[in-house]
Amino acid sequence: MYHITSFMLQDTFGRTHDYLRISFTDKCNLKCFYCKPDGNTPIDHALCTSTASEKLSSAELLSIASDFVYKMGIKKIRITGGEPLIRKDAYYLIKKLGEFPVSLAITTNGVFLDRFLPLFKEIGLMSVNISLDSLIPSRFNEITKTTTFEKVYSNIELAIEQGFHVKINAVAMKNINEDEINDFVEWTRDLPIHVRFIEFMPFAGNKWEYEKVVSYKQILDKIESVYPIEKLNDEPNSTTKSYRVKSFLGTFAVISSITAPFCETCNRIRLTTDGKIKNCLFSNEEVDLKSALRKGEDIVPIVQRAIMAKHAERGGIAAFKTRGVESKYEEGRAMISIGG
Ligand code: 5AD
Repeated sequence: MYHITSFMLQDTFGRTHDYLRISFTDKCNLKCFYCKPDGNTPIDHALCTSTASEKLSSAELLSIASDFVYKMGIKKIRITGGEPLIRKDAYYLIKKLGEFPVSLAITTNGVFLDRFLPLFKEIGLMSVNISLDSLIPSRFNEITKTTTFEKVYSNIELAIEQGFHVKINAVAMKNINEDEINDFVEWTRDLPIHVRFIEFMPFAGNKWEYEKVVSYKQILDKIESVYPIEKLNDEPNSTTKSYRVKSFLGTFAVISSITAPFCETCNRIRLTTDGKIKNCLFSNEEVDLKSALRKGEDIVPIVQRAIMAKHAERGGIAAFKTRGVESKYEEGRAMISIGG
């Protein structure tokens, strides 16, 4: 019999961490350059190239998740990847995570979503984030290096039809999809869909340059030049600044990690597929839980130490324009093995 304790994961800045993001896998069936480096760069370290036995088994993953929920006060779990739905035991894991007293959510590329919607409904996982960077089929296929646009698009429609709360993640990038910002907003006119524009972030091997970022301000300016918009309230730990075009059914938001970071209210902690804790998306100081678990040690104090070591801002990166900052993120993981 478990008891929920009042223990909470607090860092030295008084931030409580009650939101765990679990990466099911570092593999993905899409190949977006900003997330999965293309192999022309020597970045093996970035791509979590561990063997099967080095990755968490389903039992290990559930054991760690259980400790987080019952011993460390985690209230929300998001399933991420790579692409979580390609993990062989994804169905089993999701069903089991659905038994925990947490709010469960998932971020997926949507390709296999239709197969999982019945399970999501059964366990009450009703909030789904789907990545979609373009509404133009040929462009989407070019970005992802696949021909999956129709599948993803129809799965988005299916999820909405079935009453899911659907958020669309679009990474806004200069010369790639910047011209589609208002098309995404137009999509929210008659559909209860929630588009989130994410400022392009730097990770190992993703050819990031400050000049490729479409900023929060630039995104808003573009939208405001066409539509009358109103600001909506954001949840206390939200990463988004959300808006609605007056009288539209859906909403849009910006995740301004680069130009207006939201570290003061961060409540997130990440578990990688090889069993490491990342206390920040940008932190390279990972803490190994898997080895402790395999030695039968208590993981709680290890997680506490990882949280206490959390920097005030972006893993210690004060500004992305600073010279020499590249080495910080180039030495870290690629996004595909963090999970967002
Ligand atoms: N910059 C911004 N967003 C990114 N994502 C992946 N890589 C990047 C990046 N370099 C997004 C994905 C996914 C979300 C979890 O993070 O599109 O939707």
